[in-house]
Amino acid sequence: MTSDALSNLLHEDRRFPPSPEFAAQANATAALYDEARADRLAFWDRQARELLSWEREWDQVLDWSNPPFAKWFVGGRLNVAYNCVDRHVEAGNGDRVAIHWEGEPGDSRTLTYADLQREVSQAANALTALGVGHGDRVAIYLPMIPETVVAMLACARIGAIHSVVFGGFSAEALRSRINDAEAKLVITADGGYRRGKPSSLKPAVDEAVAKCPSVDKVLVVRRTEQDVDWDDTRDVWWHDIVGAQPAHHTPEPHDSEDTLYILYTSGTTGKPKGIKHTSGGYLLQTAYTHRNVFDLKPETDVYWCTADVGWVTGHSYIVYGPLANGATQVIYEGTPDYPEPGRWWDVVEKYGVTILYTAPTAIRTFMKQGEEIPGRRDLSSLRVLGSVGEPINPEAWIWYRRVIGGDRTPVVDTWWQTETGAIMISPLPGVTSAKPGSAQVALPGIVADVVDDGGNVVPDGHGGYLVLTEPWPSMLRTIWGDDQRFIDTYWSRFENRYFAGDGAKKDEDGDIWLLGRVDDVMNVSGHRISTTEVESALVSHEKVAEAAVVGASDPTTGQGIVAFVILRAAAGDGGADVVKELRDHVAKEIGPIAKPRQILVVAELPKTRSGKIMRRLLRDVAENRELGDVQTLADPTVMNLISQGLSSSS
Ligand code: WTA
Repeated sequence: MTSDALSNLLHEDRRFPPSPEFAAQANATAALYDEARADRLAFWDRQARELLSWEREWDQVLDWSNPPFAKWFVGGRLNVAYNCVDRHVEAGNGDRVAIHWEGEPGDSRTLTYADLQREVSQAANALTALGVGHGDRVAIYLPMIPETVVAMLACARIGAIHSVVFGGFSAEALRSRINDAEAKLVITADGGYRRGKPSSLKPAVDEAVAKCPSVDKVLVVRRTEQDVDWDDTRDVWWHDIVGAQPAHHTPEPHDSEDTLYILYTSGTTGKPKGIKHTSGGYLLQTAYTHRNVFDLKPETDVYWCTADVGWVTGHSYIVYGPLANGATQVIYEGTPDYPEPGRWWDVVEKYGVTILYTAPTAIRTFMKQGEEIPGRRDLSSLRVLGSVGEPINPEAWIWYRRVIGGDRTPVVDTWWQTETGAIMISPLPGVTSAKPGSAQVALPGIVADVVDDGGNVVPDGHGGYLVLTEPWPSMLRTIWGDDQRFIDTYWSRFENRYFAGDGAKKDEDGDIWLLGRVDDVMNVSGHRISTTEVESALVSHEKVAEAAVVGASDPTTGQGIVAFVILRAAAGDGGADVVKELRDHVAKEIGPIAKPRQILVVAELPKTRSGKIMRRLLRDVAENRELGDVQTLADPTVMNLISQGLSSSS
């Protein structure tokens, strides 16, 4: 990577050290880094003793005798649900709120840890009654309701393996995931609320399981009360069976390496990969990161992660990490803009949220809507803000801190993946002097680096590929049913190192800046330019709200940069010369080589239901190809608008 091509991000020289008040009360201090560096396995050993309750101690912290197949806390036994629920009740915190649940229509429910213990116990008894046992797979296809958390913990409690499928996925996607895992039971609901309307889930399950020979029963939660088709031999209402069970269930200890769950994520080929996570190491790292990265104080904080539980962020930072730590959290069912754009800020105000964890896409959407909307709410309870899922551009980072965080809160940009299971690279809010746009440093106990094509560690000031050089407790153990694909995808690109698939750069201080997936890095006239970097330059322009950049093949330069931008409301249509203005702006921010070949002003960008921009489709448009699969788009019609816009402008 050339240094001038990276100059935009690295020109970012604003620094946000923690305030002395924050640092003085923070859970994590700089001593953690020293301790982990001195003896990494001893460090994890101590964390495992302090953060979790074990039925049997382990004989060995890490068994790495057969890489890349790791075993952590070998011989240890614990029950994940006991750790997330019962032990808090036993410690006298049964009355503490575990979940403030807010339904989209405005209904709400409060579950204390004692309530959660009763519900999880009943659900565990119900699963057993339905013939589900240790090692069986259970597909969960539910909206954001308390029963989703209960269902996951009930599986964990009896040692069944859950496979949560995001409620926005189609019947076909659900079917392929159920079949890959050979799930015995599907847990779903009649529907959930999104944008003011009940959306349905049961019809997709009916369609899917018609072609799923492994499924015996479908357990259905009533949420919306809409009519559903019913198969008496197969379908069971949650309230009928769960409600009738005894509220007591004795949790059995399970092996540290027993599979906790499978979660499917898309890879470079069409077939989704079933990422397999196990129990002890996974629970440990989610609890450890949740406590230290968000500075959680379980007695006083109100934590809110806005992710859907169907993604890994929901697994690790709604269910396992926060509950293992005995946190009080908010779970919100619906969309951020219903009934109006200030809904999230109403939720923050209503529950006095202190820690907020969300994604850059959401932040940029709020920027587009203007700061008056959050400005009308009292957000003064917030004390830590987190970001996850994509690189956050410095402008969005600064806006987040200033407008949402009152220019006061630390912002933690957390890098990790479905595969890593938990946060890997992030500032520590009471320790790190934050740099907007950089995830900065591997957490204590984690070892990351940046290497070049040949696998050599690059010096500070240079870019390359992000790798993880030592195994970590919450690492994926394999791809479900496909060890070879696990080896090929992650462990073959560089010897003995995990290849994350992300481009990264180390600055002169050795801090890490994530530059997007390596498949999104463009090569223009032999210069490698990150799409992220050009986007960052574009959104740093006052007229731009959002931007997506792709490298389109170009006969002269190899690739040419094509940018799709959404203008801010205040910019109107941007004026006749907006394209020239933006090209010049990028040239000014990064250098003439980064000037987009084409800039297209659009009204929307194609996003998946989880909010990721689908650059693949934009590349298809930019290269005049027929569009690839648009099924995973939140709104498939977006592509028509964009294609029409392109043909009329070129
Ligand atoms: C990207 C989500 C930059 C990255 C937890 C990674 C990020 C992929 C960040 C994993 C971040 C996630 N900065 N990029 N803070 N967090 N990513 O599996 O490309 O949905 O490889 O896990 O998201 O996405 P996944």
